[in-house]
Amino acid sequence: MKALILSGGKGTRLRPLTHTGAKQLVPVVNKPILWYGIEQIVAAGITDIGIIISPETGTEIQQITGNGDRFGAKITYILQANPDGLAHAVKVAQPFLGEAAFLMYLGDNLIQDSLSDFVEKFVQQSLDALILLKQVANPNAFGVAQLNEQGQVVKLIEKPKHPPSNLALVGVYLFAPTIHEVISTLKPSARGELEITDAIQMLVDAGQTVASQQLQGWWLDTGKKDDLLAANQIILDDTLFSSIAGQVDAATKISGRVQIGDGSQVINSTIRGPVVIGQNCHIENCFIGSYSSIADGVRLIDVEMDHSVVLEGAVIEALQQRIVDSLIGRRAKLVYSPKRPKASRFMIGDDCQIELT
Ligand code: DAU
Repeated sequence: MKALILSGGKGTRLRPLTHTGAKQLVPVVNKPILWYGIEQIVAAGITDIGIIISPETGTEIQQITGNGDRFGAKITYILQANPDGLAHAVKVAQPFLGEAAFLMYLGDNLIQDSLSDFVEKFVQQSLDALILLKQVANPNAFGVAQLNEQGQVVKLIEKPKHPPSNLALVGVYLFAPTIHEVISTLKPSARGELEITDAIQMLVDAGQTVASQQLQGWWLDTGKKDDLLAANQIILDDTLFSSIAGQVDAATKISGRVQIGDGSQVINSTIRGPVVIGQNCHIENCFIGSYSSIADGVRLIDVEMDHSVVLEGAVIEALQQRIVDSLIGRRAKLVYSPKRPKASRFMIGDDCQIELT
């Protein structure tokens, strides 16, 4: 069996964080979202992995993720020239997939459950497709499945105005090679994309075996700030272990699980875990509260912070107020200035969101 990870697309929903980068590379607990998916696929025994990339962000994904050696896998990158839909991505990947059954994984999704049971069910029951479902409060934001009384899949609709159920399609699917035949006859949807949801509906209509499985653990579609902060919190809770590689002075108080990377310096600060601090950071006179992730090369001086994610190279100095529930982008600068007149001076990029009190 092979795997196909979709990491193309335009990534407009996490702007401005992803104006300059791939949304699949945004870190959760200092590790790109995409890598969690790769690790789960490998843990389920699949090591031949294709990754769909776009012309805009593909090079960055390739450079950071590499040829698969670090995961014990072989990664083939497949360029999709335009984000013409999830089924279009499968079409583009057909030469890589050949006649193999495959697991398809949307590169911006994070799930807690292991994929092994899911793969085992698909193989044992010789299915044409197996979809993963999860009850959600806002099904109209997703693909939605309707099941009959026997639990069989009868209908699938992409982002319906009037959802027939609250069962959303999670971004993980298993397909037999029969999917390629239906995709070859698929027409673009109202939003102009070749939808995988429509392709699976065609399998159902043709009487092929399409089964579903409900996800037991959490699932996060990391497209938005609050989802990303939630993912960060859950993964810190579930996986962080203490390890201090950088330098911590005697005046600093550390409690709970805290990770501090190589080359980082922590001076006269309080760090209350779970907190991860990357490499080569400078943290001085700070309070860093639970559920914060600080990426490499960040400089924080006289800062109080809780439940926030700070990306690579950001600088925050001497703010007069505590930062909470925040996402600070790469190389962003947030500093106190004593200049007169006393006023806030901003240079804020497109689509940013600032809440002041
Ligand atoms: O997250 C689950 C949802 O994912 C499902 O419930 C929906 O049925 C499914 O259509 C999909 O909806 P989204 O609107 O969230 O898909 P998005 O455009 O965000 O794309 C998902 C991933 O696939 C993302 O990593 C980008 C990548 N992608 C997307 C398109 C449209 C590609 O690689 N190529 C593409 O052409």
